This record gives sequence, structure tokens and C-alpha cells, in this order.
Amino acid sequence: MRGRFITFEGIDGAGKSTHIDWYAQRLRERDIRTLVTREPGGSPLGERLRDMLLSEAMSMETETLLMFAARKEHLEQLIRPALADGTWVICDRFTDSTYAYQGGGRGGCLTQIEALERWVQGALQPDRSYLFDLPAQLAAARRASARAADRFEAEDLAFFERVRSAYLQRVAQAPDRFQVIDSRQEIEAIRSQLDQDIATL
Ligand code: TMP
Repeated sequence: MRGRFITFEGIDGAGKSTHIDWYAQRLRERDIRTLVTREPGGSPLGERLRDMLLSEAMSMETETLLMFAARKEHLEQLIRPALADGTWVICDRFTDSTYAYQGGGRGGCLTQIEALERWVQGALQPDRSYLFDLPAQLAAARRASARAADRFEAEDLAFFERVRSAYLQRVAQAPDRFQVIDSRQEIEAIRSQLDQDIATL
């Protein structure tokens, strides 16, 4: 049986990465073969593209194309073979990030993103996407106390407000695929929501 494809999404600082390894461990405790990976990245070439994307100035169009180039490698080398083999793939960000950051944040053309999505992914969509949702100001405060900013994290509050609302639009378009997690909650409450959802998958 094909594995499930699960993605974690949210603005930088919303806390998704804190939960991914824990989530994978919960699946493994249920004897589910699980692979944890991330975007941009996940394949050797994808990781090199990630380094460029997080540090070098480039046009919005180049940024969008490189995100999908990294995604194509990731899909062919890792994601599709794992799913076909029955492994569940837990991916830290996927195409919803492109809609949110390049579409919402940078104001890119959604029709072009849709065309690239069809070309690169065909019909493949995540079975479940968790959106870790947090007001942009709170996320900025969490980031400031945690780490030095990369090229995306250095963007201003208005950028992250646009990213957040683009995410919420994605949820409105695919309510069955998404679970929205209020990241203002305590870690234990978030884990209990994730646990309950695992039981439905
Ligand atoms: P990370 O810090 O969550 O690993 O993500 C790296 C950055 O890449 C994050 O700021 C969001 C950005 N990103 C996009 O802008 N578009 C995309 O399609 C993806 C996957 C990530």
C-alpha cells in the first residue's frame, strides 16, 4: 500500500520544526515506516539549491523556479520511491510554502505557480498538511530570540503577514487536507491535537 504524504507548514518562527521528529516517532511507535525530509532540500542537489535560496539575492521568478527545481529532484529521488514502497513521508514544507512565500509574500503570479505545480507534481498532493499558525509579530519575536535570520527571515512584518494570509487562503481552498494548529498553545496541547489527528489517517 502507498505510504501517506504529510507536510508541515507555517511562517518562520511558528514552531513546526519542534514537532516533526516527535510526530515521526509517534508513527514509528505504531510500526509505520517513516521518512522525515524537508524543502527546499531533501536531495543532494536540492540541498545545494537550498543554500543558494537562503543566502543569495535573486528575482522572484528565479526563486520560484529554483524551489520547483529542488522539488522535482526531491520528488523523483526520495518522495515518490518512498511512498511507492509504503513509507510515510513527513516533509517540512512543500508546495503550500511556494504559494505562501513566492505567491503571497512576494506577490508572484498564482497561475504560473499552478502551472509549475502541475508540471512538477502531476496529481500528487499531500494527504494531510498541518498549518502551524501564529500572528506574524509573535513569530518574529520567537525568531529573534532563537537564531540569526536567513534571506527569508530577514523580511519585514508586512511580508510575513502576507505569507500568513496566503496560507489561510490555502486552507480555505482545501479544508479537508489541512489541520490548522494554533501555535500560541502549549506544546502539550499541540501534541495532543496531532495525536488525535494521527488516529484519523
Ligand atoms: P525552513 O527555515 O522552514 O527550513 O525553510 C526555509 C525557507 O524557505 C523558509 O523561510 C520558507 C522558504 N520557502 C519558500 O519561500 N518557498 C518554498 O517553496 C519553500 C519550500 C520554502
